[in-house]
Order: sequence, then structure tokens, then C-alpha cells
Amino acid sequence: MIRRVGADLERARTLVAELGCGLGHPMTIVATTVSTNDDASRGAREGAPHGATWVAEDQTAGRGRRGRSWLAVPGECVLASVLLRVACSPQRLPQIALLAGLAVRDAVARASGADDVRIKWPNDVVVADRKLAGVLVEGATVGARVEAVVVGVGINVHARSFPDEIADRATSVALVTRGDPPDRAVVLAHFLASLDRDLHVVVSRGLGLLRARLEAADALAGRRVRSEAGDEGIAAGIDDDGRLMVRRDGGVIARLGAGEVFLVRT
Ligand code: BTN
Repeated sequence: MIRRVGADLERARTLVAELGCGLGHPMTIVATTVSTNDDASRGAREGAPHGATWVAEDQTAGRGRRGRSWLAVPGECVLASVLLRVACSPQRLPQIALLAGLAVRDAVARASGADDVRIKWPNDVVVADRKLAGVLVEGATVGARVEAVVVGVGINVHARSFPDEIADRATSVALVTRGDPPDRAVVLAHFLASLDRDLHVVVSRGLGLLRARLEAADALAGRRVRSEAGDEGIAAGIDDDGRLMVRRDGGVIARLGAGEVFLVRT
């Protein structure tokens, strides 16, 4: 178990201040927690402000999407959750998740110089089809409205080997960077700054203004995919509502709003 916070993570507080970022303060950084998403959800209930961020070196029950566990190498990742005090309809949550994926992508590309970091719908960040980061977005709802959103990210930064369960499909910033990998604080601060920059436009108007960036970063575009429901075809981009468009063999476009897709090797 990790007992101390690494110096390369501690620096995140200073960096977000230097970047003039509206997110990332207050920032609580601990050695071990159960799940930073749990910490942020508790913060939401207890009145923490917009932008409050929880970061940990290790989690005893880190969560992934769809009830899965999130496996991370302790002390070598960015495990962070930010509380967003934004009111929106639940339909915006997948769009905020895509924005967060794009923000991770941009932060990693900028901090590492790697130019082939992509997002794999719905919200994985990948390099050469290996997962470098995942995003878990959870909304606190009052009636039919979302009143606060927790965006949790797990980014593999320094890890060079992984638990057996994920070894064949995981990668890290260190493995895709030529030269020394960046400090985790740099990746985290750039992620928060990028999320901050585009958050309000996505909350108020959806993904339309990000279309070019989404297209450029789309790991699936033009590739044959199959959904869990058996829809198969060529991935044809992400629409402004955050749905994956898949062109079936007959030419009809299916729009997938949730779930996962798998690459079909041809
Ligand atoms: C996924 O790819 O399934 C999403 C993974 C999200 C993991 C992060 S790690 C920090 C935050 N706390 C959690 O318990 N989960 C998210």
C-alpha cells in the first residue's frame, strides 16, 4: 500500500494556479482512498464548490464504467475526480464524458509529445488500440435534472507493466513517450485546464463546436466495429449528441447511444 504522495503529483496544486485554471481547487491529494469518485460525490453532498478535486495515489475500490473495477498501478497513475457544479439534463452526461476523454487526450499529447493519442468511443483514451486512460462520469440528480457532475479519470502515466488481467490491452504515457515521461502533475493540470476551457459550451450547446477535434481524435473512424447488440458496420464518426454512428453494410446509419463496441478484425 502507498503511504506517501509523490512529489511529482503534489506539484499539481501549483500548476493549476499557474495555468489560471477554474478547476482543481481546492485539491485534496491523499495516499490511499476507496474511490476518488466516492470522495467527490460525498463532497457534492456536503457543499464542496465547483472545481473541487480529489486525487489519490491508490484506491482500494476504484470503479470503472458499468460496475467494473478499475485496476491501476499504485503510485504511477493519475487517479482523480473533479466536481462540476453544472445543471443540465441527463442527456448531457455522455457528452461531458466525451469532452473529458478529449481533455485527457489533449493533456497527454501536450505533456508527452505523443501524436497518436486517440479517443475510443464512448470514453477510453487509447494509443495503438491499447487503453491509456478511462473516464467515469456520474451525475447527482434532483428529479429529472442533473445538479452536479463528477468526472473521474484514471490515467496510466509511469506504469511500464500492468496486472495480468489488463496486460494485453493497457499502455501508459511512459510507454508512448520518447524520452522522459512528464510529471503526473503536468498531465493532471493540463487535463483540468482543457476540461475547464470547453465545459460551459458543452453544457449549454452540446458537442457541435468540438466536432473537428472529435473527428481528428476518433480511434474508430473508418474501421469495422460490432456493438454488444450485434450491430455491425463501419464507424462513421460521433454525432453532436455523442452517439457513435455506424454505417451498416446496406448503407443505413445506426446511432449508438450507450454500451461498447469492439473492433472487427478483417
Ligand atoms: C473506465 O474506463 O471504465 C473508467 C475508469 C475510471 C477510473 C477512475 S480512477 C479515478 C476515479 N475513481 C474511480 O473509482 N474511478 C475513476
